[in-house]
Amino acid sequence: MNLAELNRVANALVAPGKGVLAADESAGTVKKRFDVIGVECTEDNRRDYRELLFRSKGMANISGVILFDETIRQKAKDGTPLVKIIEAAGTLPGIKVDKGVKPLPFCPGEVITEGLDGLGERLAEYRGLGAKFAKWRAVIDIGAGIPSYACINANAHALVRYAALCQSEDIVPIVEPEVLMDGDHDIDRCAEVTEFALKALYEQLYYARVKLEGTVLKPNMVVPGKKSAKQASVAEVAEKTIRVLKECVPAAVPGIAFLSGGQSDVDATARLDAMNKIGPLPWKVSFSYSRALQAAPQKAWSGRLENVPAAQAAFAHRARMNGLASLGQWKPELEQAAA
Ligand code: 13P
Repeated sequence: MNLAELNRVANALVAPGKGVLAADESAGTVKKRFDVIGVECTEDNRRDYRELLFRSKGMANISGVILFDETIRQKAKDGTPLVKIIEAAGTLPGIKVDKGVKPLPFCPGEVITEGLDGLGERLAEYRGLGAKFAKWRAVIDIGAGIPSYACINANAHALVRYAALCQSEDIVPIVEPEVLMDGDHDIDRCAEVTEFALKALYEQLYYARVKLEGTVLKPNMVVPGKKSAKQASVAEVAEKTIRVLKECVPAAVPGIAFLSGGQSDVDATARLDAMNKIGPLPWKVSFSYSRALQAAPQKAWSGRLENVPAAQAAFAHRARMNGLASLGQWKPELEQAAA
């Protein structure tokens, strides 16, 4: 393991004014997104759409791109590998390596992330294809009587097995324990569950001898469930999220890059900005968004060649807004200016 190199890459992923583009949706998830804009989910359409993002000037605010297995092997229309286009933009290619979730036996309503078997060999291959970092997502739902300790523990254990394998292959692990915002719980219940998941994760990372300097954390923000009657202000989300993170995440971690999780585009930006306005934090606090970066360009594109410039501009706008938020320099007026 080359810890200096892992630390360099981890720091690069959260470089000032930049964050990660999660473009690692499985073909099934892309189909759901394309259905909304009336685009057929073919391999060529997936390629054309992602190629337009990777060739957008928005990449100036993107430190790394998380790819799906298909995409890391794919070539652009002119035959250039997509990985080369990403590298030419000064951005690091990464790869999603988990294989999705399965029901967790004896834990109704809970899931475990799979994909550990053969992972060492797959990581070595991905490194050969250009991956400098990887992602593994654990999913924790909030409901009546859940999450259970069994779910928190099993998912933390899988995450650290993945993280240790990544570091032994000189790939930076992004560790993602996502507490979902689907329920009707309030913000304090989300804070409690997020703390539970992060405490378990950092305990197990220590036992597995993972070097925190060579990792990035990708958590959810602390927010009320989408169906909660009690929604929260931007300031409350920022304050409660930072409070939980300070309680759980050691300062040796170079950076925290949030998932967007179903928040609106502007909420995801405003809340990130508010956290960075709180004052000096022990780690860089940035973004690793899929939906909050891609919803606008997908809508603008709608599968039409003539819409490519508008889609690239929509992506560049969201990337710039989130880049500013990662510095605590975003302002709501900047959204209107682009509208
Ligand atoms: P969202 O930003 O859409 O939550 O996706 C981030 C991600 O990579 C989920 O694993």
